[in-house]
Amino acid sequence: MNHSFKRTTVTAALPYANGPVHIGHLAGVYIPADIYVRYLRLKGEEVIFVSGSDEHGVPITIKARNEGVTPQDIVDRYHYIIKKSFEDFGISFDIYSRTTSDTHREVASDFFRTLYEKGEFIEKTSEQYYDEEVKQFLADRYITGTCPHCKNEKAYGDQCEACGTSLNPTDLIDPKSAISGSIPVMKETKHWYLPLDKHEAFLKKWILEDHKEWKPNVYGQCKSWLDMGLQPRAVSRDLDWGIPVPVEGAEGKVLYVWFDAPIGYISNTKELLPDTWETWWKDKESRIVHFIGKDNIVFHCIVFPSMLKAHGDYQLPDNVPANEFLNLEGDKISTSRNWAVWLHEYLEDLPGKQDVLRYVLTANAPETKDNDFTWKDFQARNNNELVAILGNFINRALVLTHKYFEGKVPQTGQLTKYDTQTINEFISIKGELERNLDNFHFREALKDSMNLARIGNKYLADTEPWKLAKTDMERVGSILNVSLQIVANLGIAFEPFLPFSAQKIRNFINLESCNWEDLGKITVLSAEHQLSSPELLFEKIEDEVINIQIQKLLDTKKANEFNNEKVSPQKEIITFDDFAKLDIRVGTVLECIKVPKADKLLKLTIEDGFGKRTIVSGIAQYFKPEELVGKQVCFVANLAPRKLKGIESQGMILSAENQDGSLVLIQPETNVVNGSEVK
Ligand code: MF3
Ligand code: ZN
Repeated sequence: MNHSFKRTTVTAALPYANGPVHIGHLAGVYIPADIYVRYLRLKGEEVIFVSGSDEHGVPITIKARNEGVTPQDIVDRYHYIIKKSFEDFGISFDIYSRTTSDTHREVASDFFRTLYEKGEFIEKTSEQYYDEEVKQFLADRYITGTCPHCKNEKAYGDQCEACGTSLNPTDLIDPKSAISGSIPVMKETKHWYLPLDKHEAFLKKWILEDHKEWKPNVYGQCKSWLDMGLQPRAVSRDLDWGIPVPVEGAEGKVLYVWFDAPIGYISNTKELLPDTWETWWKDKESRIVHFIGKDNIVFHCIVFPSMLKAHGDYQLPDNVPANEFLNLEGDKISTSRNWAVWLHEYLEDLPGKQDVLRYVLTANAPETKDNDFTWKDFQARNNNELVAILGNFINRALVLTHKYFEGKVPQTGQLTKYDTQTINEFISIKGELERNLDNFHFREALKDSMNLARIGNKYLADTEPWKLAKTDMERVGSILNVSLQIVANLGIAFEPFLPFSAQKIRNFINLESCNWEDLGKITVLSAEHQLSSPELLFEKIEDEVINIQIQKLLDTKKANEFNNEKVSPQKEIITFDDFAKLDIRVGTVLECIKVPKADKLLKLTIEDGFGKRTIVSGIAQYFKPEELVGKQVCFVANLAPRKLKGIESQGMILSAENQDGSLVLIQPETNVVNGSEVK
């Protein structure tokens, strides 16, 4: 790290509050950020760790509309679930707030106003799709139509999910509003744009020349954006969910979610430190580091820095260590297809095993390329590494000390050449571990820490103190002393990676302090220091446990295939008034006979509360007439009458259709008065 910095502001991307968080979030952003922050804290550096929920944007409004609730309901639901998952996994934020907070609204509004007053925006009027029925401009996601490439009829205005092509709403054939189903028209609308082109020269120098040390994946993406040339970007939207654009003539317009979200880092800092927040963002000796996933690179390396630069008071990020993506069992993680390991479900199924997941996700982190999470690998790493190396070594060292020295750290006698060699090997790891942590190489850093345990394991296996107990207790004492010093070091070295287990290790040996300074020392525990009784640190994970998880995913796969093929697509959205037109009622079947010369038809006589009515229904293949007599059924009462085989049918019986086409009657759960309305 550059020594002119005094403190570090670490941010982790604000996750969208439109669903819970999964292993991909953890592996890509939150675990690396947490490892880094814990490491800086251990070194006694000044650091804050800031994140929160990203609660604006179109996906949240769409989810709300689909569920018939408000966007606020959606974000309230997920904010707390997400926050709890992070706490459960030991992600040690100093603050986890939300972009619907008052502080955020103020800070983001002020930020916009400052740029506006400085003349940093350009105003542009353009034509956009507008839904005349609901009197709303349509976000790209709110327009559906036929994909010009693959002819999928359900493509969205920003993307066709069938063939993966990115689209503009005007590319769609037969565009329709997803809100009302009506055909949208083009209408003029005014928006504010951040002229990224104006900052291009600055960005080129700042990134391509002055930040060559950024991770290759980050640097490469920035370079290709900059090589293509930057365009002005709209920072406002026509939407009723978000922070109102705080200038005159902006009714009905809100800040674009990618304008307000990164400002969330600043407003959450202000919420955490109302008096000193500015130091963390404006002081030249403050260093800002953004942890994000690769889909966020352009916003954090190009758009947000341009905003900060245009504002003028702020420091720009010193580094943006973005990760690639984590896949699950060979497939892209997908919230909509439920292809994910959800953090809250993981803890229900594997309680207390947060560190196992932290370990596996770090060992497999998608630092330089996309990586794959598999349950078999999870099991293998737990059993062969955490149990067999780390847990085993610590357990042996402690059990032997209890057996031969009543749980007190023995004195060291004369060290052998082999002892010294082991100690030197072990001491040399610290430098490498630090280098890796400083450079965001967390997979390698985890390996370094694991190597400490490997050295300990090998040391015990080679020296075999249990064989010397009869003949040379002094030698046994020396070996155990060295081993226990290694145990103490593990309690420190693993603190950034496996905080729950590191705490347990320190508890086993009654080590109260945890300072990075002590790492690499073989004098952390003094002779005669009393240890606690040891417990198992990790337990073997059996096949059955893993198979349940694998089965869960197979079930998801099956359900997805089934959904894709069999479940008919949802019909167009109707208004409440449309629904209210339907008159659905309950009646009792009085008589039921087969309609002659018609295989499928039954003629039912129904007591409907007013009297008798006749309904002809195409359900003869699935019901015997005599089975239906006496049953209550639901029927549409106000359907226009029509003749079937010469009989006038006055309504329609409701049934549910199974996957194989068979029918099941819809009935009231208990008997009701005939003629009761179904609403
Ligand atoms: N919500 C965005 C996502 O999940 C990330 C926002 S990061 C911030 O992709 F910079 F905007 F905060
Ligand atoms: Zn397509």
